[in-house]
Amino acid sequence: MKYKNINKSFFKFLAVKCFVLSFFSQAFAEGESDFPPNYYDIVALVLLAIIVLSLLSIIYFEGKPKAEGKKKSLILSKFRQIITKSTPIEREKDILFDHSYDGIKELDSKIPPWFTWLFYITIFFSIYYMLHYHVLETGELMADEYNEEMRIAVEEKEALMESGAFVNEETVTLLTEEVALLSGKEIYDENCVACHASDGGGIVGPNITDEYWIHGGGIKNVFKVIKYGIVEKGMIAWQTQLNPNQMQEVSSYVLSFQGTTPAAPKQPEGEIWTKEETE
Ligand code: HEC
Repeated sequence: MKYKNINKSFFKFLAVKCFVLSFFSQAFAEGESDFPPNYYDIVALVLLAIIVLSLLSIIYFEGKPKAEGKKKSLILSKFRQIITKSTPIEREKDILFDHSYDGIKELDSKIPPWFTWLFYITIFFSIYYMLHYHVLETGELMADEYNEEMRIAVEEKEALMESGAFVNEETVTLLTEEVALLSGKEIYDENCVACHASDGGGIVGPNITDEYWIHGGGIKNVFKVIKYGIVEKGMIAWQTQLNPNQMQEVSSYVLSFQGTTPAAPKQPEGEIWTKEETE
């Protein structure tokens, strides 16, 4: 008796704990984005609750001593009778098959109603499923869901490309298309002429039309200087004002000055840059 009671409360404790834990881990597993739980989470929770409740009721009924609490559990035992339609142990001999194997006998029990209900539920569910997904087409099939997510991902990727999220001093390439250079010129005219002159001849900043570079020529070096600036020398870090795409465009525009002759060129500064433009 005592042992049985310990057993019972232990299992109860375990079951409740499992339920609470799984609920919270479900709800908070993926961070805030998973709260409130979606349709599938709710279905999973309900199923879990059913399993746990059944477990609890099995533990409760199995561990119940016959004599005490008979009155208290009247509703519960009625409920059990309804869902299981089990034959009371006193009348088991009525449904006993008359065969026996090695002393093991078999009862001709009814299929418990909960089991047949489950069967009917699956039938109704399949009808609902069929109508919802295939006839009325009010639900999104997995393939459609997948395509929709792919479409969103492509859109997001395009937006990222647009803002130049993938362009940095390692990946930057020299743009030569007219549109890009025009847009680079616009950025240059707006931000850079005050120090580098509109033809790149240089004012406060150095001449950027010659092959001499203080910080190295080529798209990567030029991009880097524009992005991080040489703050102590008066060259601003433009990364806070221009996005990577714009910095790439203006870098390409700056390099298009190469070989042109400005009206009032400043003396060359730095070293001759001999490496390939694309480096
Ligand atoms: C406030 C003045 C100022 C403005 C505005 C300015 N620069 Fe500069 N820039 C400088 C100075 C000064 C240097 C030289 C830094 C040094 O001596 O290290 C420089 C250097 C550079 C260099 C490196 C040149 C070399 O020889 O290595 C590039 C490229 C450049 N600037 C591009 C730009 C672009 C593009 C813009 C506009 C987006 C711009 N700068 C705006 C002052 C400016």
